[in-house]
Amino acid sequence: MAAAARLGMIWAEAIGGAIGRDGDMPWHLPEDLAHFKRVTIGAPVIMGRRTWDSLPGRFRPLPGRANLVVSRDPAYDAPGAAVVASLEEAVERAGAADARAWVMGGGQLYRAGMPLADELVVTRIDLEVPDADTFAPGIGPEWTLVDPGEPLESRSAIRYRFERWERVPVSV
Ligand SMILES: NC(=O)c1ccc[n+]([C@@H]2O[C@H](COP(=O)([O-])OP(=O)(O)OC[C@H]3O[C@@H](n4cnc5c(N)ncnc54)[C@H](OP(=O)(O)O)[C@@H]3O)[C@@H](O)[C@H]2O)c1
Repeated sequence: MAAAARLGMIWAEAIGGAIGRDGDMPWHLPEDLAHFKRVTIGAPVIMGRRTWDSLPGRFRPLPGRANLVVSRDPAYDAPGAAVVASLEEAVERAGAADARAWVMGGGQLYRAGMPLADELVVTRIDLEVPDADTFAPGIGPEWTLVDPGEPLESRSAIRYRFERWERVPVSV
């Protein structure tokens, strides 16, 4: 069996950890989409079936990346992507193609990926989303903020920054 990929996770969260509303992202931040592409291009991306469903047809599969969709439905059809039955299977499949894979959502997949990932790339958005229905996982003490990013402001006047977290190495 091929070695499993190392796993990173990438998401954007607003105040209070909001990441989604009504099956979509509750903001328009083109700079974050460009950042997402820079980070993930060339690597496999792993997503839950609902996140795949949320991508507009013209954007899926995401180009330049192997797309892996996790679903319990073995008959689910995601043209241009591979459908797998679990996150673990996705990580194994990704390992055959590349050394680093990225979980790209949504809430269920981020929670499942937390114990497996060694890197988090988080866009922290200074925005209130009172009616959010999907939330980022908590980042526990096993994680170190290795890059807090600099404060940035989008063309749409939303303030944000790009953080990078690494899992604290276990000391011996
Ligand atoms: N802000 C961000 O960075 C960001 C990024 C991505 C997504 N989002 C948002 O997040 C929301 C979607 O997140 P979500 O939590 O509702 O759904 P999700 O994590 O995208 O997908 C959930 C689906 O994945 C499959 N799944 C989950 N756990 C599984 C397991 N253990 N084994 C097999 N299959 C499993 C199931 O598919 P089946 O039902 O087919 O079995 C489940 O319904 C949307 O609003 C989206 O816009 C935000």
